[in-house]
Amino acid sequence: MRELSFYRLVQDDLARVEAVLGERPPGQHSAIGDALEYLIGRGGKRVRPILVLLSAYLCGANLEEAILAAAGAEMLHTATLIHDDLIDGSLMRRGAETLNSRWSPGATVLTGDYAFARAAHLIASTGSPLLTRRFAETLMVICNGEIRQMFDRRRGVGTREEYEQRIYAKTASLIALSAEAGAILAEAEEEINQALRTYGEQLGLAFQIVDDILDFVADEETLGKPVGSDLRQGLVTLPVLLFLEENPGHPVVQAALESPSRETVAAAVQVIAASPAIDAALADARRRIDRAVDALTSLPPGPYRAALEDLARFVVERRF
Ligand code: IPE
Ligand code: IPE
Ligand code: MG
Ligand code: MG
Repeated sequence: MRELSFYRLVQDDLARVEAVLGERPPGQHSAIGDALEYLIGRGGKRVRPILVLLSAYLCGANLEEAILAAAGAEMLHTATLIHDDLIDGSLMRRGAETLNSRWSPGATVLTGDYAFARAAHLIASTGSPLLTRRFAETLMVICNGEIRQMFDRRRGVGTREEYEQRIYAKTASLIALSAEAGAILAEAEEEINQALRTYGEQLGLAFQIVDDILDFVADEETLGKPVGSDLRQGLVTLPVLLFLEENPGHPVVQAALESPSRETVAAAVQVIAASPAIDAALADARRRIDRAVDALTSLPPGPYRAALEDLARFVVERRF
């Protein structure tokens, strides 16, 4: 990934983002610093900070502010992962043990809360009240979406619209804001703002669709987190929806949804992974990537726009 154009273009700035992420505010308990360093230091694709930086360059935003916003976006993402893994009971993330696998739920929640607060602090430090408000609203959308996902989980398989709403809330909302952040900081014209937002929304939806596909077909070691975890939690994602459209009431998949166990889930994962539903879901993600790239045509051409296009293509080709 590090050889890809979008990465190379912001490599030096990204190093500064990493330095900000690694800062330890005075008085911070070493357990928090160690936990965040461990989690953030294990890698991750850094999609959100890369988007903030590319958008900032494209719109001519102040670089210092962009670095704070990029660090804030990654810190917010980190906080959601800490809580997500606790809620899902996931034991592996980025190829390493999750916090909840080692710590009590209480300590894990508090560390996630701390990361949320640090994210808010970083974003407020940009000096942009609008960006700060937009991040707060996005976090409200994410939490609301997670609650909906939790409470509606066992109520049938749901529709494609419901699925889209869900993945917008949990993933596309933050990716869209990251793509728009440079325009907000630069106080760019509304048209530019809107183009980046549309790009980010479509990219974010495609990103989560690919994450949901990888949950069926990825190699666990490359992915760095468990596969089959969505079905294990009774979570119906696009590959399942598309599979059931072609095979209504399929007994193997139905069994996994009705009584998820290691065996029923493994059997359903195998059936779905080998079915055309995977390619159909990928085609859906590709259509969204085309829309994302189309939205960029109103922006000034050049290396930053090209990098956003490359990033969009990477999202559907990725294996991790
Ligand atoms: C994982 O996000 C959670 C989702 C929104 C799908 P990423 O796939 O961006 O995770 P990292 O940061 O690269 O580990
Ligand atoms: C997580 O989505 C989205 C948020 C963190 C809000 P997933 O549950 O699909 O992410 P993974 O697969 O655990 O990374
Ligand atoms: Mg999860
Ligand atoms: Mg997932």
